[in-house]
Amino acid sequence: MPDSGTASETRPALDLSAAMAETATAVTERLSELLPAPDTAESRVIEAMRYSALAGGKRLRPFLLVHSAALFHVSPSAALTVAAALEMIHTYSLVHDDLPAMDDDDLRRGRPTCHRQFDEATAVLAGDGLLTRAFEVLADPVAHADPAVRCELVRELAEAAGARGMVGGQMVDLMVERGIGDLSMDVAAITRMHQLKTGRLILFACLAGPIMGKASAKMRACLHAYGRDLGLAFQIADDVLDETGSAQDLGKTPGKDAASGKTTFVTLLGLDGARDRARMLSDQAVNHLDVFGPEADMLRAVARYVVERDR
Ligand code: IPE
Ligand code: IPE
Ligand code: MG
Ligand code: MG
Ligand code: MG
Repeated sequence: MPDSGTASETRPALDLSAAMAETATAVTERLSELLPAPDTAESRVIEAMRYSALAGGKRLRPFLLVHSAALFHVSPSAALTVAAALEMIHTYSLVHDDLPAMDDDDLRRGRPTCHRQFDEATAVLAGDGLLTRAFEVLADPVAHADPAVRCELVRELAEAAGARGMVGGQMVDLMVERGIGDLSMDVAAITRMHQLKTGRLILFACLAGPIMGKASAKMRACLHAYGRDLGLAFQIADDVLDETGSAQDLGKTPGKDAASGKTTFVTLLGLDGARDRARMLSDQAVNHLDVFGPEADMLRAVARYVVERDR
């Protein structure tokens, strides 16, 4: 992880690595509490849900959620619960993305993919279980005391995860890869695809805090703009890492995009062009935080991490 400090005489140095590790530990604990393993006949599906959800990962979305919620003085425990629900959705998207019917991957988060460890049908059900459990968690008063806020969180997350968000983006991704529908993918079309398949969940991570904190429309708009640019930058960096990263660092098999002949930012702009685009978007994301003072420094630091990371 790069040096994330923004040390100056007036601002203390930030330790982004330590802060990310702290959120990762806390969200993993919360996920474990929210996904208890029963001793019943169906426990196999819960075991598979826990296998994928507790496996680690960068926990970037929870980090964004917890730190943007802190800007609006949201209870850290409630933010962590909503972050865990979001991470359930993200994990379900990975479990299904790795299935033989989709990307057919064997390695995820440094261990065998869910369908490799269990079997395909169990992996489908584990994804379904994580998806539905996430909304059950959001609907519970522990997520927020105000039912109107819970309702807004449910609606926003459903839109971000569904056919107008991640699921829609995954559909376009597969159509492009398989030549279904003869879509021509230029930079504009691939930008839209990335915004759907990856950007929308990252955007939710940045909007949940202002929703929970009942922030003003102006503040919401700043976090919205930050999350939109950061989400796109994140997926461009993922495309770059698929080309340049190692299985050891990534915890997943690199080179899959090139092997499947997929159109990505790397094939359209080249490696340097894709890296430049990601950095430009990350800078743009940071600029949207100008209304905030040092209290948003963690969000500024993580925006740089998103495009400089090696995992
Ligand atoms: C991988 O997401 C899938 C994409 C949306 C690009 P992450 O890179 O955040 O995966 P984890 O959660 O760290 O494993
Ligand atoms: C998947 O994109 C994004 C999801 C919605 C899961 P990728 O297929 O590029 O993600 P990785 O590279 O397998 O993590
Ligand atoms: Mg995929
Ligand atoms: Mg994949
Ligand atoms: Mg990828």
